[in-house]
Amino acid sequence: MPASSAMEQTLAICKPDSVKRNLVGQILGQIEASGLQIKALKRLTLTRRQAEAFYDVHKERPFFSSLCDYMTSGPVVVAALEGERAIERWRELMGATDPAKAAEGTIRKKFGQNIEQNAVHGSDAKETAAREIAFFFSGIELAG
Ligand code: RTP
Ligand code: MG
Repeated sequence: MPASSAMEQTLAICKPDSVKRNLVGQILGQIEASGLQIKALKRLTLTRRQAEAFYDVHKERPFFSSLCDYMTSGPVVVAALEGERAIERWRELMGATDPAKAAEGTIRKKFGQNIEQNAVHGSDAKETAAREIAFFFSGIELAG
């Protein structure tokens, strides 16, 4: 559990396009440089069923099937991040969903290729962060 109420945890994913292009180190470096801590980290390849479960909230959206194709197209690197206001800070660091609209210096501006292949994922609220971290990490993996 985070040490104080201002402390939060959030989930980061380096999506398949980032892993394929060897951008993981630069992305994790930018996370660490911002002061957020990497609490847990691993690389894996999502199955179709796992991708559909992870993005269940988007299942009615027109891009759902394409998003699941993309997220299963190669390995991802997932990380649990911790820090004060971690959810908002990680979203700021990522930039807007569409890299073309993302602010200068953000990860999606630098590394995103289009609105789908946009380099990284971040949780959008406390409840989703808790659900998404538990989706990928067990208690023992978060204990360090
Ligand atoms: P994420 O969940 O990955 O952090 O991204 P987000 O909150 O900024 O965007 P969200 O609306 O949750 O969308 C999830 C992911 O679906 C893909 N997407 N494709 N083709 C499209 O119009 C479209 N819109 C979204 C992106 O990969 C987006 O990150
Ligand atoms: Mg989202």
